[in-house]
Amino acid sequence: MDILRRMAEYRSQEDTLKWEGTFSEYVELVKERPWIAQSAHSRVYNMIKEAGVEDRNGKRDYLFFKNQLFGLEEPLEKLVEEYFHPAARRLDVKKRILLLMGPVSGGKSTLVTMMKRGMENYSRTDKGAVYAIKGCPMHEDPLHLIPHALREDFYKEYGIRIEGNLSPLNLMRLEKEFDGQIENVPVERIFFSEDKRVGIGTFSPSDPKSQDIADLTGSLDFSTIAEYGSESDPRAYRFDGELNKANRGMMEFQEMLKCDEKFLWHLLSLTQEGNFKAGRFALISADEMIVAHTNETEYRSFISNRKNEALHSRIIVMPIPYNLQVTQEEKIYEKLISESDVSDVHIAPHTLRIAAMFTILTRLKEPKRKDIDLIKKMRLYDGEQVEGFNSADLEELKREYEDEGMTGIDPRYVINRISSTIIRKEVSSINALDVLRSLKEGLDQHASITKDVKEAYLGFISLARREFDDMAKKEVQKAFVYSYEESAKTLMDNYLDNVEAYCHKSKLRDPLTGEEMTPDEKLMRSIEEQIGISENAKKAFREEILIRISTYARKGQRFEYQSHDRLREAIQKKLFADLKDVVKITTSSKTPDEQQLKKMNEVIARLIDEHGYNTTSANELLKYVGSLLNR
Ligand SMILES: Nc1ncnc2c1ncn2[C@@H]1O[C@H](COP(=O)(O)OP(=O)(O)OP(=O)(O)O)[C@@H](O)[C@H]1O
Ligand SMILES: [Mg+2]
Repeated sequence: MDILRRMAEYRSQEDTLKWEGTFSEYVELVKERPWIAQSAHSRVYNMIKEAGVEDRNGKRDYLFFKNQLFGLEEPLEKLVEEYFHPAARRLDVKKRILLLMGPVSGGKSTLVTMMKRGMENYSRTDKGAVYAIKGCPMHEDPLHLIPHALREDFYKEYGIRIEGNLSPLNLMRLEKEFDGQIENVPVERIFFSEDKRVGIGTFSPSDPKSQDIADLTGSLDFSTIAEYGSESDPRAYRFDGELNKANRGMMEFQEMLKCDEKFLWHLLSLTQEGNFKAGRFALISADEMIVAHTNETEYRSFISNRKNEALHSRIIVMPIPYNLQVTQEEKIYEKLISESDVSDVHIAPHTLRIAAMFTILTRLKEPKRKDIDLIKKMRLYDGEQVEGFNSADLEELKREYEDEGMTGIDPRYVINRISSTIIRKEVSSINALDVLRSLKEGLDQHASITKDVKEAYLGFISLARREFDDMAKKEVQKAFVYSYEESAKTLMDNYLDNVEAYCHKSKLRDPLTGEEMTPDEKLMRSIEEQIGISENAKKAFREEILIRISTYARKGQRFEYQSHDRLREAIQKKLFADLKDVVKITTSSKTPDEQQLKKMNEVIARLIDEHGYNTTSANELLKYVGSLLNR
């Protein structure tokens, strides 16, 4: 069986990564590959940087986050450049707790999980390798063994700064087990693993009354006190709190601000001096990145409490707002659906896009500029061209609000509504209307939204619905025309022949019968009326077109239907207007004749082959557009 073989391969691969030696051998390694002695913060930063950075109009896009987090390029850039990077360079921020602050389901946990998994993998690579004193529950940095007095010399020779004191446990082991012979202390390569509690810790607050600081910093091991004779013998202490275990890597502090205040005080020394207190021992140096997360309400109430000031100044807050781009939101849904057990259900084209539009509308703030509405703002944010606006306008809009993206509908809500639609309908296919309906129904059950907000959200559902109507009509109309370009050209040629005859007061010749005909006034007017040309103005319009044609001819250019803006518009409108009737009659006929049936089947086939529908969704679309056109 393949999987068994692969497992064996994996194991032997892991074995090849292992390394064990003495401290002196380790120092040789450091000489060859100095990066293995980097700090935890530096390792995190390098992991992110080495995954690649792309330049996007002067902004940096960190590819590390690419396949899981969408539309968060800007907050992530800020996070890397204002926290990870300076922390990696041993600046003071590294002692601070990184607090990710953002709305529910905005990707905070996902971000932290990515970093944890990333660190696990990175520690298995050459660049991310980590070594530790063997047998140390805190995987202590072997370089801590070097006495302070010699560290300056070490720096001169190796260019590596050593921070932190040897922990009480290793200090004692050094004396008792190795007779002070630092060179002989065993060192091993370690591999981060959250499951095995190596270099990655997670802490989440439980009941404040029973919450024990031991969960963070370890506790006395009563069974061994007798053996070692004293509570202050570090060998009688279990350094197995999350802060201990996360040493050299990172610790996630879930819902930090939900913690009891007293509890948080213990973090003060950690954030001040980079060390923490455990049991009756000297301070323990910690080399780890602490990441916490919280939502805005909790954060506001935390900072409004003056008692928290000291801690507050030791926290670096990084906002993780919602994504504000429709296209990226669609990707989030695609990701969430592909991970769910409804991934085999057919989702009609535009469905997720329409849902995403609704979501983004709930997150955007009304533009302060009066010349732009919310829908246009949504388009600009999504990188679309909007007539009359450019990238400077986009930047200006973004600057209007500092805190955009902190409110609105979260992606999980949308996915829940989509799944419940699928499950309730027991269908194999859903479309945009199903989802909008479900989103609307869900608003009633949605806790935490006020009447006003609900009112506004209902408005956004209507807006999204209108966008869908447009898309649906265009899609069907396009599917009705075999070739849009060709039809437009034919119609224009026909129009121009008639205009020519009209202006020259001549006759047309029927190409089939050779019969002479007067210009088709009805046809010409039906096109001109599309762009509001009155009976009185028609002559001037037709003459102007003829002049344009002869100008083109003189220059040896071909006059196409796109050559004249207003004519092009008229032709397009006329084509769709003509279609409207065909589409209307064809799609709404209760008893379609043979001709209509044939057309319908053609259109459905085209929707399926070229536009990604299935039989059900194509039929639903046709029926819906039929009803729209009959309104
Ligand atoms: N910008 C985004 N890109 C990709 N996926 C996202 C994004 N925002 C949210 N998600 C997805 O939505 C789901 C919820 O996100 P996650 O649990 O990470 O949010 P959170 O901020 O930790 O929320 P909470 O405050 O509820 O703990 C996840 O499956 C996540 O992948
Ligand atoms: Mg979370």
